Amino acid sequence: MAYKIAIIVGSLREGSINRKVARSICGLRNDNLDCSMVEIGDLPLYNQDLDGNPPEQWLRFREQVGAAHGVLFCSPEYNRGIPGVLKNAIDVGSRPYGQSVFDKKPAAIVTASPGSIGGFGANHQIRQACVFLNMPVMQQPEAYLGHVSDDSFDDKGCLKEGALKEIIVGLAHAFHDWVDMIHRSRQLLAEDSAHRSQKAKEHA
Ligand SMILES: Cc1cc2nc3c(=O)[nH]c(=O)nc-3n(C[C@H](O)[C@H](O)[C@H](O)COP(=O)(O)O)c2cc1C
Repeated sequence: MAYKIAIIVGSLREGSINRKVARSICGLRNDNLDCSMVEIGDLPLYNQDLDGNPPEQWLRFREQVGAAHGVLFCSPEYNRGIPGVLKNAIDVGSRPYGQSVFDKKPAAIVTASPGSIGGFGANHQIRQACVFLNMPVMQQPEAYLGHVSDDSFDDKGCLKEGALKEIIVGLAHAFHDWVDMIHRSRQLLAEDSAHRSQKAKEHA
């Protein structure tokens, strides 16, 4: 079964290296991961006053993320933190209170940068938000992708052969297995619980 994955890219830049990394992950696992990019550039800034009458862009975003089995964040680091546009999208998806579309969805976080520490700061700020959002986040492999540039990709935007591609291949496989494990364990627990309830009724 192919799991539906919502990919949220924290860069609005047309030539974004993070978008290219995201596309590469989709391309490498398109038999098992049915990936869709969920656009965030048009989302009005989150304002709690609008919860009762939300903008259509918020509704579209919530619907797209809500329909997914898992979420992949691919983001640059801005000033050692989460780009504002991504934080806004996280806030929009997390509300109204009690109706977060992120709740319980397995996630992975990838940050790519031309710099040497690969967006470590942004990666962990996203991770911190995911803790509050109740998203089980893949722990390994960690993906702070440093020294990524346009030169890492060919003319079609695909990753060139090399160490970076090997990391991405490993990550794409691990993310599929992570999403699969979370969903299958939940299904088994639900079946087990139904079985126990049935047995309890029979013995009542
Ligand atoms: C406002 C701004 C702040 C940035 N801050 C950082 C930073 O803290 N760490 C870093 O590694 N790169 C930083 N960069 C450089 C980005 O990593 C680089 O522009 C990268 O290509 C952006 O990702 P994208 O190609 O996906 O748009 C910053 C870039 C901008 C525009």
